[in-house]
Amino acid sequence: MLNSDIYNRRRQNLINLMGKGVAILKGAPEQIRTNDTEYPYRQDSDFFYLTGYTEPGAACIIDPSNKENPFTLFVLPQDPKKEVWTGWRLSFEDTVEKYKADQALDIAEFETAALAAMKTSSKVYTNLNHDKVHQYKMLDHVGQVRKEVQRTGGGPEGLESVGSLTHGMRLIKDEHELELMQKAADISADAHSKAMEACSPGMYEYQLQAVLESHFVHEGSAGPAYTSIVGAGDNATVLHYIKNRDQIVDGDMILIDAAAEYDMYAADITRTFPANGKFSEAQKAIYEVVLKAQKAVIEASKPGVTFQELHDMDLRLLVEGMIEIGLLKGTADEVIQNESYQDYFMHKTGHWLGLDVHDMGNYMADGESIVLKPGMAFTVEPGIYVNSKSKAPEKFRGIGIRIEDDIVITESGNKNLTAAVPKEISEIEALMKKG
Ligand code: GLY
Ligand code: MN
Ligand code: MN
Repeated sequence: MLNSDIYNRRRQNLINLMGKGVAILKGAPEQIRTNDTEYPYRQDSDFFYLTGYTEPGAACIIDPSNKENPFTLFVLPQDPKKEVWTGWRLSFEDTVEKYKADQALDIAEFETAALAAMKTSSKVYTNLNHDKVHQYKMLDHVGQVRKEVQRTGGGPEGLESVGSLTHGMRLIKDEHELELMQKAADISADAHSKAMEACSPGMYEYQLQAVLESHFVHEGSAGPAYTSIVGAGDNATVLHYIKNRDQIVDGDMILIDAAAEYDMYAADITRTFPANGKFSEAQKAIYEVVLKAQKAVIEASKPGVTFQELHDMDLRLLVEGMIEIGLLKGTADEVIQNESYQDYFMHKTGHWLGLDVHDMGNYMADGESIVLKPGMAFTVEPGIYVNSKSKAPEKFRGIGIRIEDDIVITESGNKNLTAAVPKEISEIEALMKKG
């Protein structure tokens, strides 16, 4: 059951932020995969956040200056011949009822209605992301309306991203969102434990991918929140390795970065473990450095701390650890200054998490790093990647390690949504022995 009150509340918040503006939004377009078959449909996150609407072919106008119909949903009309192919569509009356819209109209009326709504608004907000056709049309409409109002005055001054308003809203998760994120996290956490249990040398990376993704779907997820990464040995040192085709060799470390999307919300988990269930000394040395940094950053995540402070802490701990085990030379200050750590740690400590796996929302405001507040959700994911071509001591080459959990800031500290997947060496070895 759709809780339409949640989306109604968000639209009210948007209206308060828009002033005399109007939001004219298009749902995500369908994407062709091959010839005439499409990728599974995924609604635009901002459109979903404000409407709860997940079907293709939609648009909406949120127009506080339209006193009768401030919220209009435009949808595909009922059409029995088409519906037998793609599924039943709601009538306009039922659409109004389900989504708490003031009116529902045929999508064919959208462009004309958009032009009319622009004339009575001083600012037009729309989704400026991947749908270029929609963006060009909106720009064209604004240009046309500007010409029409030249002698009468009024009309929009320009086109703004609705994200400039919604992304700030989306940064703080409400109760409903946190429930869904916990569910996505639970499914993903179980899947990681299952993959650890199932793993043995000789298997193929894609077979572990199958263990994870089968569990996602079995538990009601729409599928992976992003393309699963299952990299064994040197493949674990490639940050966006998604081929997942190689055979797993005894002695490899395996890095799995995979998680489910549940009811539109993403989890994002990485675990790294030895293929044969037992860490070698070199694997253990790097793993312990990453684990220590990851745990310390999670511990430090609380209201009042900035995102940048977490990254600085992570970087220093990784650098100190890498010097200690002989991966880097010099003092921690020197290494941070000359950035030689970039050979092995080349990404940020984390990112916002929510409807998008790399969720929207600024990391900086007025030149300063964002201060953490209750309801903010993000990943903590330090890593060390020593590829086979690196100049590191031989024993470390071909080891890539990342450990990633999903954290929500609470009033008193934080909650780790993905704490259920083992990450201590002893826990991982015990689970794999059982498998
Ligand atoms: N799975 C993508 C990331 O960790 O950022
Ligand atoms: Mn991540
Ligand atoms: Mn990840």
